[in-house]
Amino acid sequence: MVSLRAFLLLAETVVAVSLKPRDWFGPTAISIPPSQSWTGNDGPWSSFTLRVGTPAQKVGVLISTAGFETWVVTPEGCTHNDPPDCPTLRGGLYDNSASSTWQPQNFHPLGLESVLGYSSGGEYGFDTVGLGWQESGPVLTHQVVAGMATSEFYLGTFGISPGPSNLSDPSGQKSSFLVGLKQNGTIPSLSWGYTAGARYRLSKVLGSLTLGGYDLSRFTPNNLTFPFGIGNSDDLTVGIQSITMSSSDEQDTPLLPNPILAFIDSTIPHLWLPKEACAKFESAFGLTWDNASQLYLVDDKLHSSLLAKNPSVTFKLSLASKGGPSIDIVLPYAAFDLEVESPLLKRPTKYFPLKRAENDTQYTLGRTFLQEA
Ligand SMILES: *[C@@H]1O[C@H](CO)[C@@H](O)[C@H](O)[C@H]1NC(C)=O
Ligand SMILES: *[C@@H]1O[C@H](CO)[C@@H](O)[C@H](O)[C@H]1NC(C)=O
Ligand SMILES: *[C@@H]1O[C@H](CO)[C@@H](O)[C@H](O)[C@H]1NC(C)=O
Ligand SMILES: *[C@@H]1O[C@H](CO)[C@@H](O)[C@H](O)[C@H]1NC(C)=O
Ligand SMILES: *[C@@H]1O[C@H](CO)[C@@H](O)[C@H](O)[C@H]1NC(C)=O
Repeated sequence: MVSLRAFLLLAETVVAVSLKPRDWFGPTAISIPPSQSWTGNDGPWSSFTLRVGTPAQKVGVLISTAGFETWVVTPEGCTHNDPPDCPTLRGGLYDNSASSTWQPQNFHPLGLESVLGYSSGGEYGFDTVGLGWQESGPVLTHQVVAGMATSEFYLGTFGISPGPSNLSDPSGQKSSFLVGLKQNGTIPSLSWGYTAGARYRLSKVLGSLTLGGYDLSRFTPNNLTFPFGIGNSDDLTVGIQSITMSSSDEQDTPLLPNPILAFIDSTIPHLWLPKEACAKFESAFGLTWDNASQLYLVDDKLHSSLLAKNPSVTFKLSLASKGGPSIDIVLPYAAFDLEVESPLLKRPTKYFPLKRAENDTQYTLGRTFLQEA
């Protein structure tokens, strides 16, 4: 039975991605097909389907490269103040009272992004989690699941970092889904490949997620390997040597006064950069900070002029903030041309996903960046 299951996963992988020639006798990387929907109130973002609980409840979630838990929106996440289609807008709700395998623990902070001012908590427990909309996708029992009523994170989140979760459990099982798959013999390593997808592309490129390896078809070869943080932290940190803007009427305008180190973290959409860099973006793009929403909102006039100018932004990344080999990642204006919706703002409004960092603990390249990286 076990070997049959493993074989089915292999067959699925061969169809889904072009990975290197495989060892048919060992575990192999698995590719998780994205759902076909674009969701989010600060997006559009390509979501993935989870099958949570018993019987399985299907919910659409976003991938968190920094997270190591499964967060799902509970029925309390939609109230009478929300639009009637709130459950759909939030990717679907997970009701733990309808799951026979739910084991409640306690309520505690979600923890991620506290340095960026996020503070919500979740109702923690354990339940069965299946990954991907296909029934053949990997399933692990007794996974850490947090039910969220908060709209701070509008969609559920699936963490692909190794973790572990800081949740006490008599059975001692609190490792992340990725570690579970590795221990379980489903994948060969703790590596993963992820791109957020990019709806602005003509072909509307959906997100891509590969666990235990990466998808060669989404990989542009380069000579840089970014190691994960050492010690207890699994943070993915990169040096940003420069950020420049080019458009129809200017070339290589510098936007980052001094090189920095930044986290790569797909949990949040924004780019958190030093205030001095934000000031350069303001003058280069004509952006104005909206204190009420804490966002750079873009009105129709500015939007038309930016579309006409068609600026692109080049990030020069390296292992350290100075020196060494580097790689350029170019984001077209379309990657920054996002819309924010209820409950963040009453009416859908265009915004530029840049945030002002107070200090270097906040420098982050969020999901916007992973549309092209
Ligand atoms: C992995 O875990 C699942 C769910 O707990 C189980 O059904 C499956 O048999 C396990 N696979 C291996 C290879 O241990
Ligand atoms: C884990 O939780 C304990 C108790 O709440 C806390 O003291 C400790 O700092 C936490 N560790 C991490 C790594 O978050
Ligand atoms: C990587 O480095 C080698 C040797 O320096 C060079 O020949 C090759 O072109 C580089 N590859 C890329 C993709 O930059
Ligand atoms: C910005 O908004 C906050 C609360 O939303 C308010 O306390 C603060 O005074 C505002 N700052 C300015 C400069 O308007
Ligand atoms: C960085 O800024 C955040 C937000 O203002 C603050 O909470 C934190 O204490 C600051 N950290 C340092 C090291 O100054």
